[in-house]
Amino acid sequence: MTHQSTTSPRERDAAIEEIAARVGVRAERGRRFAELTSLRVGGAIDWVFAPETEEEAAVLAGELEAARVAWRVLGAGSNVLAEDEEHHYVVLSMREVKGTALFEGARVSVSAGYSLPRLCVDAARRGLAGIEGLGGIPGTVGGALWMNAGAFGHEIGNVVETVRVARGGHVVEVRGRDVEWNYRRTSFQDGELLLGVTLRLIPDDSAKIVERMAEVKRQRMETQPHGARSAGCFFKNPPGSGLSTGKMIDEMGMKGEKRGGAIVSPVHANFIVTEGDDARASDAFALAEEIRERIRRERGIELEYEVELWRSTTTETSAGEQTTADESAADEDK
Ligand code: EPU
Repeated sequence: MTHQSTTSPRERDAAIEEIAARVGVRAERGRRFAELTSLRVGGAIDWVFAPETEEEAAVLAGELEAARVAWRVLGAGSNVLAEDEEHHYVVLSMREVKGTALFEGARVSVSAGYSLPRLCVDAARRGLAGIEGLGGIPGTVGGALWMNAGAFGHEIGNVVETVRVARGGHVVEVRGRDVEWNYRRTSFQDGELLLGVTLRLIPDDSAKIVERMAEVKRQRMETQPHGARSAGCFFKNPPGSGLSTGKMIDEMGMKGEKRGGAIVSPVHANFIVTEGDDARASDAFALAEEIRERIRRERGIELEYEVELWRSTTTETSAGEQTTADESAADEDK
């Protein structure tokens, strides 16, 4: 993967511009995480690259690595809390790598930037089951893969046949069964860029699948906030405990609790939502840490973040390791 750059900022920028021109990809300055994430907070980004095809994305990742430029992958930005300060790395946005979903029998091949809700609808119409529980997750397919998005009894990892991954500037195919698909976590490593996937779905009656999707939507509308600026569940449920983090936060009476522009959702206590133009990532982070502290004190449980926290700074030695962190944050609400 990439390593800490030893060049000056100016040399680095020149190298980045040269790569963008050579690969022929759109490269933008002056973007902010507040525009690119569903929580609508977060600071300025040095560069945003927006490749349009899987091959282009693979070449770019290889070029950035070769030039030792730090980078991270962003999809829909629906599972990312990025700090308010300036972020000095390249964001590889996969949203334009969407192509079309190619169906063949029970299989579908789709690129990482394709919308997960759209894929779920496409599949349901064709009478293909296995992902209908994921229809309300406002993320990209790549983000869903990166963290094994799940909801209402379905997890994407269960139906993956092969994943296309960029390695050394090339597209490599990895078998789904060679990937570890855990609860909101996979064995994909920072530095691996997920480009696309082939899913093997389960033939079923289209009307029944559509009805199940409608039922899931009803449940979601009843139990989770909608239309709010959120990143889905903020914390994981404590693994293997059968406990619900949302229920625990609710029982502590924290629904509606505010810190600046961040609020514990009155609908579902494991959702932190932001409000107003002045909301900051630090508000959401402060509220989240307060929740963790209280759960630690009152329940003796160490909550693990489910959203990805994107720090603005990288340490001397870890710039490379952290770079490609989240694939994209598919999951507001897996
Ligand atoms: N509950 C409360 N108060 C609350 C929230 C929940 O009492 O404020 C209770 C519910 O009434 C229920 C129990 O807690 O008895 C569990 O709640 P829910 O059914 O909403 O499930 P969850 O464990 O909170 C998980 C996922 C969601 C996913 C839903 C539906 C996690 C962290 N959350 O929520 O995923 O949509 O199940 O399958 O695994 C996400 O990953 O971003 C996410 C939202």
